[in-house]
Amino acid sequence: MCGIVGYVGHRPALDVVLDGLRRLEYRGYDSAGVAVLTGADGLAVERRAGRLANLEARLDEVGREAFAGTTGMGHTRWATHGPPVDRNSHPHRDGRGRVAVVHNGIIENFAALRRELEGAGVEFSSDTDTETVAHLVARAYDGVDGGDTEGDLPASLRAVCRRLDGAFTLVVTHVDEPDRIVAARRSSPLVVGIGSGEMFLASDVAAFIEHTREAVELGQDQVVTITRDGYEVTDLHGEPSRVRAFTVDWDLSAAEKGGHEYFMLKEIEEQPEALANTLRGHFVDGRIVLDEQRLTDQDLRDVDKVFVVACGTAYHSAMVAKYAIEHWCRLPVEVELASEFRYRDPVLDRDTLVVAVSQSGETADTLEAVRHARGQKARVLAVCNTNGAQIPRESDAVLYTHAGPEIGVASTKTFLAQIAANYLVGLALAQARGTKYPDEVAREFNELAAMPSAVRQVLGTVETARRVAASLADAKAVLFLGRHVGYPVALEGALKLKELAYMHAEGFAAGELKHGPIALIEEELPVVVVMPSPKGRAVLHAKLVSNISEIQARGARTIVIAEEGDETVRPFADSLIEVPAVPTLLQPLVSTVPLQVLAAEIARARGYDVDKPRNLAKSVTVE
Ligand code: M6R
Repeated sequence: MCGIVGYVGHRPALDVVLDGLRRLEYRGYDSAGVAVLTGADGLAVERRAGRLANLEARLDEVGREAFAGTTGMGHTRWATHGPPVDRNSHPHRDGRGRVAVVHNGIIENFAALRRELEGAGVEFSSDTDTETVAHLVARAYDGVDGGDTEGDLPASLRAVCRRLDGAFTLVVTHVDEPDRIVAARRSSPLVVGIGSGEMFLASDVAAFIEHTREAVELGQDQVVTITRDGYEVTDLHGEPSRVRAFTVDWDLSAAEKGGHEYFMLKEIEEQPEALANTLRGHFVDGRIVLDEQRLTDQDLRDVDKVFVVACGTAYHSAMVAKYAIEHWCRLPVEVELASEFRYRDPVLDRDTLVVAVSQSGETADTLEAVRHARGQKARVLAVCNTNGAQIPRESDAVLYTHAGPEIGVASTKTFLAQIAANYLVGLALAQARGTKYPDEVAREFNELAAMPSAVRQVLGTVETARRVAASLADAKAVLFLGRHVGYPVALEGALKLKELAYMHAEGFAAGELKHGPIALIEEELPVVVVMPSPKGRAVLHAKLVSNISEIQARGARTIVIAEEGDETVRPFADSLIEVPAVPTLLQPLVSTVPLQVLAAEIARARGYDVDKPRNLAKSVTVE
């Protein structure tokens, strides 16, 4: 995915756009670029491969005064078509340099469009799909290919969008239109920020939250024109179109580091609040209530099977949910990687509930899984952290995780919030279906509601995890073991370590160890073990103690996450990280936290950028 900012107003556009890009850099950091309309036929463009800092250094070299103007746009890229080099960086221009375009998404039919343009004598200067749009818009605006779009920028963009397949947010400027910017979206995010005498466009409200919290979310296949005094939205045929206005419920401080070296470290600390905010308002008059509930209690009673679909960390939260939903609702629950879901012909019908979990709400794999499920008449409930994103828009019901903006590419607070939200879905199902009595639902909710303070307690004791991290900085590989709800926690711990520390890390169900992975155990290999409670899951606890002694006997170094006061496991732990005792199903909320700290600290010790791991972007809008 990429980050996009557009601005028309009274301030220097370059400053506004660069500030916005700084807040959107988590969306991609392969290159960055800006374009500013400088009046009198002027369009100043600069772009550079690498981080935003490279672009800023280049702007200092060429002199920022060349970018004087109050209409501009910018882009931060996660490369899809063409390597991350200067010539593939956005904005892209037409041959005469009169149109500039930035783009997030993939234009699937770009090769055919490019061939057509090249056949008409157009020369390309990049490998990107985006450049086709710059040429097409320029030709439409100049009336080269006929039609009635000549001299009309919104009509030109609409005509071009009608020819595009795939997903896109496109923002377009033209030198002849210095006071307006036109943008369009399909399956990629775009929001309009409404200021006073100024208007903003962005992939995410974080880009303009400093200036306004009033926003409008664009719908599918809509085109918006912003001027300093307002905005106008149409469909792809120029008919006026409705949009949803909203007020952002967090402020600038939430999108800033607040004294932390990295966003991720701040976001780890924000977990108690993320949990509390996600639970707030969902237990009213003794009943669980969801957010945008477009499913009736009867719909929930009719459900005979649940699929939870998601990717990455969200998938691990889905794995955790399976244990709770099956236990509370006596319903079969299948957990699916969203990227696999629609390719294996899952059995779905109107009595299937598909829960789609996504922080961003724009992950292409999960979105396509949602579309597939709805196409098969299944009901879809989205668990999402981003107000009005595409996945909740296309779902029958929504439950928002109110974790606030998560800027670190590695998910932390949204994982805990997803677990809490998934549990609310489970309790809502149990309540509607009568598989739990109201007092049992209340007890489960109250236990969940006590978790922010348990997580706060864990945060007070992460020093041990930091010390362990320091001793693991040179390890070649780390294994993670867990059972029951500790298994997805082990997978999440391994994922964090892979993505942040670029270290080989594998998570296993501890019971599987003897079926193969035990062959990996060698002298000094660090193995992190997530222990169940000795009281809550005594049988599993005993089996895991045996597993640990087996690996210790083979020379591995054991790092054990265990409940406070678990004396049985102590002799088998080379390092022991204690977490508070909580009910079994809630253990992932406490045992994940030290693993997040471990990964972040190892990455730091190895000198890596904790917020922006290599090759990654915060959400993945390509399949
Ligand atoms: O936005 P989503 O929750 O749909 O993103 C899914 C995954 O890409 C995401 O959880 C990813 O695995 C994490 N950033 C890893 O920390």
